[in-house]
Amino acid sequence: MQEDKFEAIIEQIVEKGFGVLDDFLTSEEVVDLNKSLTERYNNNLFKQAGISKQHEVVKTIRGDEIFWLEKENADETEKDFLDKLESFIGYVNYTCYLGIRSYEIHYASYPVGTFYKRHLDKFKSDSGRKLSFICYLNENWQPENGGQLALYLENETIEILPIGGRLVCFESDKIEHEVLPTNRERKSITGWLKNTE
Ligand code: OGA
Ligand code: MN
Repeated sequence: MQEDKFEAIIEQIVEKGFGVLDDFLTSEEVVDLNKSLTERYNNNLFKQAGISKQHEVVKTIRGDEIFWLEKENADETEKDFLDKLESFIGYVNYTCYLGIRSYEIHYASYPVGTFYKRHLDKFKSDSGRKLSFICYLNENWQPENGGQLALYLENETIEILPIGGRLVCFESDKIEHEVLPTNRERKSITGWLKNTE
């Protein structure tokens, strides 16, 4: 049951500040979302991602290209994804009392050779971001492809492979993290659950 999976990742987040859930998406959903991502990419809708509130592009820090997803212009596949995300949010609010009231979400594509240096997701002036989530869209990702998400925890660093269907979720204001250089195009849906509108 879906709730059991949600429960498992939420327990991890409460315990350790982060959680990993494989098969948040089915392989069919990964294939379909890849098609939607590719269509948007081919329509030149992706923009070079920036850093800080000014969205300054600094490729020595961050090399991904992103497209912000809005519910209003989502296609059927994306709507299904947002429905799933919203049921997850409902479950988070039911179990965690984080008071999530909104979310923001984008596709990300890291071209070969790119990365995102160590950072924290929460802007200093913005307290709304409570949980960061990343859902990977990479079919058959292998360790030698690189592109691991490194999480810098208090006493250790862990590396997570961006395997298709996998969801990673962590506390936005607490866990510093980094995307290690990828040698294959690396795709995901990334977003933040916020306690502000
Ligand atoms: C980000 C980020 C991690 C990942 O977009 O802020 O840290 O694994 N992404 O893609
Ligand atoms: Mn980040």
